[in-house]
Amino acid sequence: MVSGTLTILLKQIIFILKMLLLQRKILNLKISQPNVFYFRNLYTAPHRFSDLLLVHRDTEENNPNVPFQFTDANMKRIQAIIQHYPVGSERSAISMIMDIVQRQIGWIPISAQHKVAQLLRIPRIRVYEWVTFYSMCKRIYKGKFHVKVCRSLPCMLRGSDVIVRAVEDATCCSIGGTSADALFAVDLVECQGACANAPVIAIEDDYYEDISVYDVYNIIQTLRCGMIPPSGPQNGRYAAEPICGLTSLVNNPPEPGHGIQECLQEKKKKK
Ligand code: FES
Repeated sequence: MVSGTLTILLKQIIFILKMLLLQRKILNLKISQPNVFYFRNLYTAPHRFSDLLLVHRDTEENNPNVPFQFTDANMKRIQAIIQHYPVGSERSAISMIMDIVQRQIGWIPISAQHKVAQLLRIPRIRVYEWVTFYSMCKRIYKGKFHVKVCRSLPCMLRGSDVIVRAVEDATCCSIGGTSADALFAVDLVECQGACANAPVIAIEDDYYEDISVYDVYNIIQTLRCGMIPPSGPQNGRYAAEPICGLTSLVNNPPEPGHGIQECLQEKKKKK
C-alpha cells in the first residue's frame, strides 16, 4: 500500500519535472547578465527589460550599513519642500526628495532610501515601492550619463531597433550595463511621451528627438568631450511642427466672441 503511494508520488514528481524542462525549452529562458532576466515569449520578439529586477541585493557599496547624509544645502531644500504639504501629507514630497538624493550622489542607494523613509516618517516599503516603479530612479550607479532608449511602438516604427544598436556601439556598453569608463549606462525604456518626435533617447534631463544613427554618434561623442549637445529635435524642425513649416493654424486666431450667436452678442453688449 505504502510502496504504491510512493510510486504514484514519484511518477507525479517526474511528470512535473518534465513539464518544467519543457516549459524552459519553450520559453528559451536565459540569464544574460547578473540580475537581468532575458526571455522570449511564444508570441513576442525578445523582451529586454528596461531595468534590473525589482529587488535589492546587498553589495559592498550598496547595503544599509553604508552611511548616507544629505548636504546642509539639500537638507534646507528638503525642509522647505516638506513645509508645502499639510501636516500628515508630508509623504507627497517623496518624489522631490528622491530627485535631490539622485542629484546629490547620482543614484539612490538603499541607505538613502531608508534615510528618506525616516525623514518622512513612512514605512520603508513605501519608499521601495516608489523607487522600483519609476525608470528614472537609479538604484545602482548608472554612469555619468544614463542613456535611455525608447522602444515603445511609435519609436519602434521609426527605427528604434537601429538606434539601440548605434547607442550600444557608440557608448561601448550593452543594454542594462555600464561602460568600462563608467561614463555611460544604457537602458531600454517605455514611451517617453514625445512620440510625435520619434525616435527618442533621453540622457539625464535632456530629450534627443528625431534622431538618426549619425545623431547618436554625434551626441555621444560630444558628451565624451565634456560638452552637452543641444537637446530637442535633431532634424532641425521646431518642437513637433512639420519640418516643411506649418500646414495648419497658419493665421492669427479669431478675436474672443467669434462665432457666438447674435442674440448672445446683444446680451453681452447690454451688460
Ligand atoms: S514611443 Fe517613444 S516617445 Fe512615445
